[in-house]
Amino acid sequence: MQIREALELAAARLRGGPHPDRARRDAEWLLLQITGKNRAWLVAQGDEEFGGCTAVRYASLVERRLAGEPIQYITGEVEFYGLPFRVTPDVLIPRPETEHLVEAAIAIARGSEAARIVDVGTGSGAIAIALAHHLTSHRLTATDLSEAALAVARDNAQRNGVSVRFLHGDLLGPVADESFGLVISNPPYVPEIDRPSLSVEVRDYEPSTALFAGPEGLDVYRRLIPQAFRVLNPRGHILLEIGYGQADAVRALLEGYGFFSVRVLPDLQGIPRVLDAMRGKD
Ligand SMILES: C[S@@+](CC[C@H](N)C(=O)[O-])C[C@H]1O[C@@H](n2cnc3c(N)ncnc32)[C@H](O)[C@@H]1O
Repeated sequence: MQIREALELAAARLRGGPHPDRARRDAEWLLLQITGKNRAWLVAQGDEEFGGCTAVRYASLVERRLAGEPIQYITGEVEFYGLPFRVTPDVLIPRPETEHLVEAAIAIARGSEAARIVDVGTGSGAIAIALAHHLTSHRLTATDLSEAALAVARDNAQRNGVSVRFLHGDLLGPVADESFGLVISNPPYVPEIDRPSLSVEVRDYEPSTALFAGPEGLDVYRRLIPQAFRVLNPRGHILLEIGYGQADAVRALLEGYGFFSVRVLPDLQGIPRVLDAMRGKD
């Protein structure tokens, strides 16, 4: 069978799966991953023979995708804020909308005394590593409850040539005696009640400890916000990613715990996505 035929067969098979709209793109992406080639090769050499072990491995990757496994876990790769990250099922796949959080953090850190930054629930390390890459004079710390996630994050820091202090523990517990200019977090915020309505990709493949946070999705914010108040400098900021419809509730928590100047930042769809608040009045 020619390479081109193998690709078309795989795409046809994926059209019967959960994402028929992405079938051709996914089939091509998996083929390029497995052969280590690029699209130019595919166009130029598409009539070459395709068989043996590579064809068998390709077929098995296509079956995993057909079952709903996220393409990023199959290839083990994702790009976040222009940087390459390794991902495994131990970590949440970093989302494009989280780039808004990083963008806001860079703007705040460059304009204030955010010399020490802590990323809570770092997962793959995406946020902390992107910040370390762009804010070279700031010192980055990151925590996570999952040792397995921290192993991936450490690997990603090394891969991107940045230095981040990774600590294992509950929220800000590992740094309770320290002080920071910026606490940043994309914590678990999916309400338990939404579990059945999540896509197979998210529900069956991503770590549930990275997703769910009690009945309304607010449990982690309720614990994290008062902890952040204690470790922040008087002029420090907290930056939180929030889920759909959570802006008012999280704003009330921030104000209730004594934060000032709460700002709601929308994503590209105009949906409130990030909350920024200050520890002191100015
Ligand atoms: C939504 S994921 C975010 C991962 C990464 N920051 C990102 O944006 O892609 C939440 C992360 O918080 C971690 N986590 C959950 N509960 C935690 C806790 N109590 N303390 C520290 N980390 C926690 C999970 O293991 C997971 O890695």
